[in-house]
Amino acid sequence: MKVVLPPLLIVDDEKNMRASLETVMQDEGYDVSSAESAELALELVGQNAYFMVITDARLGGMSGYEFLKEMAKRHPDLPVLMITAYATPKLAVEAIKSGAIDYLAKPFAPEELLHAVSRCAERYQLIQENQALKNATMPQFGLDRIIGQSEGITQVKDLIATVAKTHATVLILGESGTGKELIAGAIHALSDRREASYTRINCAAIPDQLLESELFGHEKGAFTGAIRSKSGRMQEADGGTVFLDEIGDMSRPLQAKLLRFLEDGTFTRVGGNTELKVDVRLIAATNRDIVSAIRNHQFREDLFHRLNVVQFTPPALRERGEDTLILAKHFLEHFSASMGKAIQGFSPAATEVLQAHHWPGNVRELRNAIERSVILETTDHIQPSSLPNFKVESQLGSSEANENLSQGTYQEQMHFHERQIFLRKLSDHDFQLESTAKALDLPLHELQYRLHQLRINLSQAPDTPES
Ligand SMILES: Nc1ncnc2c1ncn2[C@@H]1O[C@H](COP(=O)(O)OP(=O)(O)OP(=O)(O)O)[C@@H](O)[C@H]1O
Ligand SMILES: [Mg+2]
Repeated sequence: MKVVLPPLLIVDDEKNMRASLETVMQDEGYDVSSAESAELALELVGQNAYFMVITDARLGGMSGYEFLKEMAKRHPDLPVLMITAYATPKLAVEAIKSGAIDYLAKPFAPEELLHAVSRCAERYQLIQENQALKNATMPQFGLDRIIGQSEGITQVKDLIATVAKTHATVLILGESGTGKELIAGAIHALSDRREASYTRINCAAIPDQLLESELFGHEKGAFTGAIRSKSGRMQEADGGTVFLDEIGDMSRPLQAKLLRFLEDGTFTRVGGNTELKVDVRLIAATNRDIVSAIRNHQFREDLFHRLNVVQFTPPALRERGEDTLILAKHFLEHFSASMGKAIQGFSPAATEVLQAHHWPGNVRELRNAIERSVILETTDHIQPSSLPNFKVESQLGSSEANENLSQGTYQEQMHFHERQIFLRKLSDHDFQLESTAKALDLPLHELQYRLHQLRINLSQAPDTPES
């Protein structure tokens, strides 16, 4: 990676000195700006990027030492090198104490100065490269990544924008695949901790004995195999965000320790006595039924209340109306592009199938279904034949779907069940109207009429090309 080096800034009230420094630096290929006072330099540094500053100790107005202190306060990452007329150890110490990265006494050989400058240039490049690497490996999170226009998702997005800036602990509850991880990432990305670390720990994936040490660290000899002391993820995440995923799977003893940690940010390592303190923002999520876990004494109620400062409950996909199609289109575009296929959209029959399915695996299931369909599809529209056979899954989720439905009106429930009956039969018969009518023992015109009533539109289905 090639990093473009911004100019360096020379601060000196003597015109001749500025000019000669400029020449030396320009001859070496550096871009140079200069300022005749510390006041002007501070203004320039506030407006432009520099990779370092070289300042004289003695300046009219604000002195070089005051300038160093001001720079350390306002721009602690920008290195400043100081040049003085007299070499005394005391002044050198004072310069370094005030925040100078280096110190040169006049007269000095140009090589000495050039050496110090090239070290700063290298340092700048390393920092930039590191930052670029970090950005590339950081998952790209943000509100834009959360697709959907339904009321439920709009509320989720609004709440993210509101609470991201606070330090409130967040609890995300929702079925598998509803986007809990996406929400956690967006909260971090929109918070003022976004530059700091984001750590996800899957509590279900780490054996319980190890999880405590993973989170809080251990001292040497704390358990067999602890040959040296080790800091935990909480400590490493100091200043950042920790996402405790699948918190419902955490053991009760560890829940107690987490509760203490949430109360004041303090903890001890496994096998240690020293109390440590860090500043992390906690986000927790689970797809378990937390209320019944509390009732069954698997989850501490006091911990629940501590975590539950702000609660997110992303709705199940089947409750998001048109979002299913919006998301399907989004994934279709994504996978078509990445696989280099020119698939334009979904056939009406496929659209029906997507709308009728109740998506027990939510957005993850939809994403997988679309990915698969893009692989299988040979026409320029996704047909039902490329979509998974949802019959097995329908049976899995049907009790749940029925439960949901029992809350609707008689008309709504009948409408739902009738659609299910027709869609299932249609899909069994590859969306061929005649054989479906036969199987249902209905006259063809009656089937067509019922489908129209139920807004099942097959006019562009593969069996009956557009009329
Ligand atoms: N609203 C959305 N827009 C775009 N993609 C989404 C949305 N919701 C979820 N996804 C995608 O669906 C997949 C599952 O989401 P995620 O991992 O966040 O779910 P989860 O709720 O954490 O599930 P689990 O409880 O199983 O861990 C991911 O690939 C995610 O990017
Ligand atoms: Mg998850």
